[in-house]
Amino acid sequence: MSFSTNTLYYGDCLDWMEQWDDQSVDLIYLDPPFNSKSQYNILFGNRSGGVDAQYRAFNDTWAWDEGAADRLARIDNAVAHPAHKAISGFHTMLGKCGMLGYLTYMAERLVHMRRLLKPTGSIYLHCDPTASHYLKVVMDAIFGSLHFRNEIIWSYRRWPSKSSYYQTMHDVILFYVVGSGHTFNVDYEPASDSYLKRFKGKTQVLDPETRTRKITVDKPTKGLARRDVWELSIIAGSSKERLGYPTQKPLALLDRIIAASSNPGDIVLDPFCGCGTAIESAHNLGRKFVGIDISAFAVDLIRNKRLDLGIPVKGIPADLYSAKLLAKDSPFNFESWAVTRLPGFAPNTKQVGDGGVDGKGKIAVKPDNFQSRLALAQAKGGKFNLSSLRDFLHVTKRDNAAFGCYISLNDVRSEAAAREVAEFGKFQIGATEYSRMNLWSIENYFDNRYPPMPPMLDPYNGKKIRDKLANHR
Ligand SMILES: C[S@@+](CC[C@H](N)C(=O)[O-])C[C@H]1O[C@@H](n2cnc3c(N)ncnc32)[C@H](O)[C@@H]1O
Repeated sequence: MSFSTNTLYYGDCLDWMEQWDDQSVDLIYLDPPFNSKSQYNILFGNRSGGVDAQYRAFNDTWAWDEGAADRLARIDNAVAHPAHKAISGFHTMLGKCGMLGYLTYMAERLVHMRRLLKPTGSIYLHCDPTASHYLKVVMDAIFGSLHFRNEIIWSYRRWPSKSSYYQTMHDVILFYVVGSGHTFNVDYEPASDSYLKRFKGKTQVLDPETRTRKITVDKPTKGLARRDVWELSIIAGSSKERLGYPTQKPLALLDRIIAASSNPGDIVLDPFCGCGTAIESAHNLGRKFVGIDISAFAVDLIRNKRLDLGIPVKGIPADLYSAKLLAKDSPFNFESWAVTRLPGFAPNTKQVGDGGVDGKGKIAVKPDNFQSRLALAQAKGGKFNLSSLRDFLHVTKRDNAAFGCYISLNDVRSEAAAREVAEFGKFQIGATEYSRMNLWSIENYFDNRYPPMPPMLDPYNGKKIRDKLANHR
């Protein structure tokens, strides 16, 4: 099956890439989940989970759990797997720990990236020094050590942290190609005066008369081919470029990679596209893009805040049946998708210890009879049950939220539930009264029926939402 270009895919990149045709992509940039700073102890211990990670998807990746054991068994038992020897070696060296879990996770995905790349293709793997040395061995195994081109150091300055050692202020980007005919548009740094003095206007060629000796002729120099250490600032807190996605990378970094290793019209894939830096860069530079992310929040940010192109998204449930499948296969993604169906709601980045709140939003104007403008949502993938509604009523009251919406995958009609919701009261904005708690089922969403909602702020730009259904097309 071939993918559609200029499209975003929602879900695990492995599930999508497995379905796609060989040799169909020109360039891959990947910046997989890796927050080494807070996860270092977990990576080398055998504890699974237990941290307040921003996304469970991140957490699952580096836990040693059943999934990691299955991946290890799959690679260990497949002697023909390109990363078989590398992973078996890491197993002996590291034992069963989060890092081994992470490397098996990456190996399974990198094998598909190698398959998807054209013989002229290139890949840039963005990581940091915690795992770059292990990932390089995995890349050597899958792409071949002869196809390694550069280890790019992205050096930046940020507010220093408390450290007894040297401040870590760089990321590592591993650049590999598939074969010798790969695309590479040499990028030149502005040449220094001393360089120009030495090389400008001079080059050695074979003397056309004697054909035996070399002579020096004039030739303009383009400067010095760019070094592999790139000094580029991270996105400043006040920058217009910042979208509020925690791991967002600067456009300048992606522009440099995409301009060098692809040509206009080529296909650029980012299988962990986050808030879409590579997607925007590819679009701006006249390349076609394909982006995949497991987070509904990320996909929504790209469509609603980064690029106003009405980019189609695949993998988002299109009917109740696919919503049920999503809830079963990936409850976290279901919750995050379900809350973003409500105008003005973004998924709660705090996934644990927040009383089960899955989404938050802000009412555009302060209610007349209520101090707070906070709106909360909870999404439930299983059968509707009264006690979980009661828990959510309690949390809404505890957090002093003006408005709450309890979203259920299934029908929410129940007399007892309606009674509890009615007792929870109302709030008022001008002449309009709104129920403080609303029951809404995903079935209603597919019928284009929404709960009576107060005017809400767009969670991404803080402006009042005019077209209530804008996020949902
Ligand atoms: C480090 S961020 C990428 C940031 C991106 N380069 C940007 O500039 O916004 C990693 C992303 O991978 C996504 N992710 C994690 N596991 C994934 C998976 N299995 N398939 C697809 N995306 C995944 C996360 O949701 C997150 O957005």
